[in-house]
Amino acid sequence: MKTVDSRLQPIPLHASRGISLARGEGCYLWDTEGRKYLDLMTNYGVNLLGHAHPAVTEALVMQARTLTNAHQSFDTPARQEFIEALSTFLPPALSRMSFANSGAETVEAALKYTRATTGRIGIIATHRAYHGRTFGALSATADEKYRQPFLPMLDGTRHVPFDNLDALRDAMNESIAAVIIEPIQGEGGIRVPRDGYLRGIREICNEVGALLIIDEIQTGFRTGAPFAFTREGIAPDILCLSKSIANGLPIGVTVVSDAVSERIPKGSHGGTFSGNPLVCAAGVASLRILADASLHQRAAELGERFLRKARDLRLPQIREVRGRGLMLAVELKKPATPVIKAMQDRGVLVMPAGSTVIRFLPSLLIEAAQLDEGITVLADAIQAAA
Ligand SMILES: Cc1ncc(COP(=O)(O)O)c(C=O)c1O
Repeated sequence: MKTVDSRLQPIPLHASRGISLARGEGCYLWDTEGRKYLDLMTNYGVNLLGHAHPAVTEALVMQARTLTNAHQSFDTPARQEFIEALSTFLPPALSRMSFANSGAETVEAALKYTRATTGRIGIIATHRAYHGRTFGALSATADEKYRQPFLPMLDGTRHVPFDNLDALRDAMNESIAAVIIEPIQGEGGIRVPRDGYLRGIREICNEVGALLIIDEIQTGFRTGAPFAFTREGIAPDILCLSKSIANGLPIGVTVVSDAVSERIPKGSHGGTFSGNPLVCAAGVASLRILADASLHQRAAELGERFLRKARDLRLPQIREVRGRGLMLAVELKKPATPVIKAMQDRGVLVMPAGSTVIRFLPSLLIEAAQLDEGITVLADAIQAAA
């Protein structure tokens, strides 16, 4: 792979995968050497409808020819259409929203809104949580590797064990502004809590007047339903969305209840690029496709198929196979990186979620045969890397 040939170099923040990606189409990517890869990671979950989806590309080209930026002090049709398209997925209680450019920015807004709404500063997040890397979001993120170089974090933020309502109840008091939770932990290793966990959190929040922030940045539209929280018959006070809602264009949305919205002073939050018509046009095209309920039914079935087939491998190196819909993981009894590298060498792209977990976030449009190929290559790579 060619390195950057100039005096200016990127800060080496990321471990290099050693290939340079040139082009994508559907569930495949090609590197600059012309090698083809089956993409089972969709750029950390953003290209939910695959690469260069014709409807999204068409919407982007049309919008690029028309208007790419319009500050939110102006209305613009693409933004209006995006809000209308998103509203069809939301419960009535979630009736207000603000735009952002990334997942972390939506969390940042959510945390600020909880202060304005409750007048409290306490935030409870969970062990292994990942909510992003800006200061507020990082304070809610658990991994010390990300936090340590930048201490101190926000005052009043603490972490309790995931999927443990007793621990949450013990940590809860009337200084807590909000609990922030991923319905299924993503970066933390694709950890699916027991049924009733989110409902339990909702009840505990209600008891002390704290808000519930649900971070569906990774789970959104991927777990066999538009949102994972609906399974539990509850609604959050604040919902964070990003990654897949514009199929790879940088967008984020923080959705709130009327009660939260009423306490946020006019002019107190915003951003130059937020809600720009270009990303909104990609979002409208994506959300219109995601409105097809059969896609979510299919994601649920494909996820079941993956879990069954990966478990049937019965390889001694595998500790556990878990996930829901097309948010899946194979946890090994040894480091995941050599296996991920061996899969890449065999033309399949996946990613880690912690040191021993291989994470699969494929496109919703993936074919069963492509998913099966991923499992075959996984088995081969596990044995090769043994
Ligand atoms: C659950 C969750 N929240 C927040 C984020 C942060 O999003 P971004 O990387 O766009 O800032 C991520 C990113 O992986 C995520 O998975």
